[in-house]
Amino acid sequence: MNIILLGPPGAGKGTQARLLEEKRGMVQLSTGDMLREARTSGTEMGQKVAAIMDAGELVTDEIVIGLIEEKLQSADGNGFIFDGFPRTLGQADALGELLEANGQGLNAVIEMRVDDAALVARITARSTCGSCGEVYNDITKPIPADGKCENCGGTEFKRRADDNEESLKTRLMEYYKKTSPLIGYYYHAGDLKPVNGLGEIDEVAGEIDAALGG
Ligand code: AP5
Repeated sequence: MNIILLGPPGAGKGTQARLLEEKRGMVQLSTGDMLREARTSGTEMGQKVAAIMDAGELVTDEIVIGLIEEKLQSADGNGFIFDGFPRTLGQADALGELLEANGQGLNAVIEMRVDDAALVARITARSTCGSCGEVYNDITKPIPADGKCENCGGTEFKRRADDNEESLKTRLMEYYKKTSPLIGYYYHAGDLKPVNGLGEIDEVAGEIDAALGG
């Protein structure tokens, strides 16, 4: 099964992707994570990517499609969870072609609906484990009291450079201008399954499970 998690920054895509990996043995393909890895490479391309991401703008289609193509060739698992990809109509067309070339297709596009006020509150309270990437939130999912990641026991936690109100404004505008047209695109393809992303993490997971047929 191949699915897309579609939603604005802070909608809970990464959180739900990790739960789906655990529950269904699927493989999370997050272009955000891939780009954050690329920016640590020290190359000129990495530096350009870092500046674009910190400003909250979208990286070019060419770069992200190249990253996904590479992963699709090397990763193996019980289907893919596309997290944060596609984000433009060009990327959506490219994904369709890449899957078709591999004899695969898309099973569902989960649209995670969350209002802007909740997105701002979630993102400004987010931190992640520096070792395994487990996502925490100062309010809704705090780091355990012993200071150790519940997933891997790591003790280093990070905040993202683009998790500030200024970058977030740009990220939201980019979402509404360039990514939200994908809602209509996938609705017409018959793949769209909207879920209410405003509930508790487990409730949202339950809705996604139901949308995927249990
Ligand atoms: P990316 O890393 O994809 O970031 P994003 O889309 O902005 O999404 P986030 O990771 O911020 O949020 P999320 O939906 O995963 O939420 P999370 O689960 O963490 O992209 C970063 C940048 O990379 C982009 O701006 C762009 O520059 C570039 N990029 C990436 N992909 C690209 C592409 N395809 N094309 C071009 N450029 C690309 O949850 C957020 C917080 O809320 C956490 O603290 C979590 O604990 C909490 N939370 C989650 N669910 C709930 C809930 N149900 N209730 C309460 N709190 C919750």
